[in-house]
Amino acid sequence: MDHADKKGLDLGIFFVNSDKVMKTKPYTQDISPLGYTVGVTLDRFIKDKQADFPFATGELSQLLRDIALASKIVAREIGRAGLSHVTGAFGHTNVQGEEQQKLDVVANIRFTRALTKGGEVCAVVSEEENEVIDLQNKTGKYVVAIDPLDGSSNIDVNVSIGTIFSIYRRVTPQGSPISEQDVLQKGSQQVAAGYVLYGSSTMLVYTTGIGVNGFTYERSLGEFFLSHPAIQAPVTGDIFTINDGLTPSVGLGIVEFLNACKRKGRTSRYIGSLVADFHRNLLKGGIYLYPSSTKNPSGKIRLLYEANALAFLAEQAGGMATDGRRRILDIQPESLHQRTPLFIGSRELVEELHTHL
Ligand code: AHG
Ligand code: MN
Ligand code: MN
Repeated sequence: MDHADKKGLDLGIFFVNSDKVMKTKPYTQDISPLGYTVGVTLDRFIKDKQADFPFATGELSQLLRDIALASKIVAREIGRAGLSHVTGAFGHTNVQGEEQQKLDVVANIRFTRALTKGGEVCAVVSEEENEVIDLQNKTGKYVVAIDPLDGSSNIDVNVSIGTIFSIYRRVTPQGSPISEQDVLQKGSQQVAAGYVLYGSSTMLVYTTGIGVNGFTYERSLGEFFLSHPAIQAPVTGDIFTINDGLTPSVGLGIVEFLNACKRKGRTSRYIGSLVADFHRNLLKGGIYLYPSSTKNPSGKIRLLYEANALAFLAEQAGGMATDGRRRILDIQPESLHQRTPLFIGSRELVEELHTHL
């Protein structure tokens, strides 16, 4: 450097010795084949996207980061579940009358704590809690509905499970008591929604109403990286997803549609974790069906913390989500743990199903 030639530096040429000229070039690697800059962390992405909201003050960004942090902790707990004795039943049933698994409880605590400490959220609706949780954050602008651990029947057998979340802006003034209007909002009012899939890798997929983006967790770096930018659901697909055990007790229209799927040589795939089943169909093209049945006359999937978030994501990716009659996002919720039939996925497949209903 001692001998660096001033003129050479100006030209972008670096001289070690005046007689040994090194040929250099500016960093202009063509990354277009990759589609989007790789190496973008979730944090950076959220920060960059904040500019899309003209009056954003950063609280929603922080809230998304809180969820991401809790999901990393939950991913860690899940990763060592078989070793640390957190598999199996907790010994209680939740408000649904379903047996709570230990990881249901752990995930519920982790997410609720992260949202409490973050300070942006005033109230949480959780699958694992009978009532709305008032986080006592007087300045919290947001309400979160969450299924902390989805697919709990798969925990003990090392099969993919997930977390589903919806974010709403509270409608009553900050600091006032939480009201029904704050928590029973239509899905169309969501400001953001997403899921975390704890699968062969952990992924976080979310939308703020401007497309859908997916991030894969790099465990050794402790970061989510953008891996699936601007996800678009295939317009149609070959996969149909239903618990086949239900078919003797579902409506004739559903049976007709399933028979048509079989005649057309489509493929049946069912994991039994909604997040995992939805994610596969979102990427590959397909339809997920959880209809009403004799056992569950209103279906099984919960509107507030399962169906709404996935419906928002599906629509943002160009897909469709209905209860067989109405758009999921247009349903006015009447209670916290309300169930709904759910038909969701590639647009043409949902439309085809509707021709049988
Ligand atoms: P959760 O574990 O949060 O209670 O959700 C389970 C849901 C959903 O993930 C899945 O698609 C469905 O239940 C499976 O139901 P069946 O066992 O009736 O197929
Ligand atoms: Mn669930
Ligand atoms: Mn659950």
